[in-house]
Amino acid sequence: MFFMKKNAGPRQEMVIPAHIGIIMDGNGRWAKKRGLPRKAGHRYGAKAMEEICKYARDIGVRYLTLYAFSTENWKRPQDEVDSIMNLLRNYLKDITNHQKEEIRTKFIGDRSGLAPDIVALMEEAEEKGAHFDKLTVNFAINYGGRDEIVHAVREIGKKIQDGALQPSDIDEQTLEDFLYTAGQPAPDLIIRPSGEFRTSNFMVWQSAYSELVFMDVLWPDFGPKDLDRAIEEYSRRNRRFGGV
Ligand code: FPP
Repeated sequence: MFFMKKNAGPRQEMVIPAHIGIIMDGNGRWAKKRGLPRKAGHRYGAKAMEEICKYARDIGVRYLTLYAFSTENWKRPQDEVDSIMNLLRNYLKDITNHQKEEIRTKFIGDRSGLAPDIVALMEEAEEKGAHFDKLTVNFAINYGGRDEIVHAVREIGKKIQDGALQPSDIDEQTLEDFLYTAGQPAPDLIIRPSGEFRTSNFMVWQSAYSELVFMDVLWPDFGPKDLDRAIEEYSRRNRRFGGV
C-alpha cells in the first residue's frame, strides 16, 4: 500500500523502527482551513512536533529526524521565514534551559546560512543534551539532501588534497562518514503527512532502503495515534534490502 488509509488492516505486533524520519508538512493548509495566518500553522506544528518527540522516546525509537526547514524554504515570504526561525529560537532556549525531556538533540543542515545567535543556541543544545542516550532527535534546519551530499564530497575532496585519502579508497562508507548523520543508522521508516507523494530532498542518500508511508493528515493534527498507524504499516512490510 502506498497511501495509508485510516484504520488500514488489522492491528498487529508493532516493530519499532530504530530510526524514523518525518517530513512535517501541511502547516500552511491547516492554518488556511481555519482562517488563520500560516505562522499559526507553524506554531501548532511545533506543538505537534514536541508531542511526537516525547512519544517516540517513550516507545523506544532511537533516532528521529524531523524536516523543519529546507534549503528551499528561504523562498517563502520573509515574515514566514522569521516566524519559523523565532519558533526555533524559543524552542532551543526552552530545551537548553530545562532539559526535562531527556532527549539528545542534534542539528543537521548548513549552519552557515543561519543567524549566529541560532547557531550558538544549537551548539549549546547539542552540548547540554549530549549525555542523554534514549532518543536522539535530528532537527533538519537549512537542510537539503543534495546539499548534504555536495558538502560530503567537498570534505572528501579536502582529504584528497591533503594527501590523507586516495580516490580509489572512496567507497559508500567514506561518503556516509561525511554526511551530517555520520554514525547513525539509516532511517527505517520515512513518514510524510499532508497527502503529498514525494520526499522533497529529504535524506536523499540515507533513504535508499527506507519504507515510505504517506498519510492524509496535516502536520499540526499529527499525534501519537498517527505515529502508531505508520509504525503498524511499517510492521506489516517485509524488508528485503535487495535480497529475496
Ligand atoms: C511545511 O508545511 C512545514 C514547514 C516548512 C515548517 C515546519 C516547521 C515546524 C513544524 C515548526 C518547527 C519548529 C521548530 C521548533 C523546529 P507547509 O508550510 O509547507 O504547509 P503547506 O504545504 O500546507 O503550505
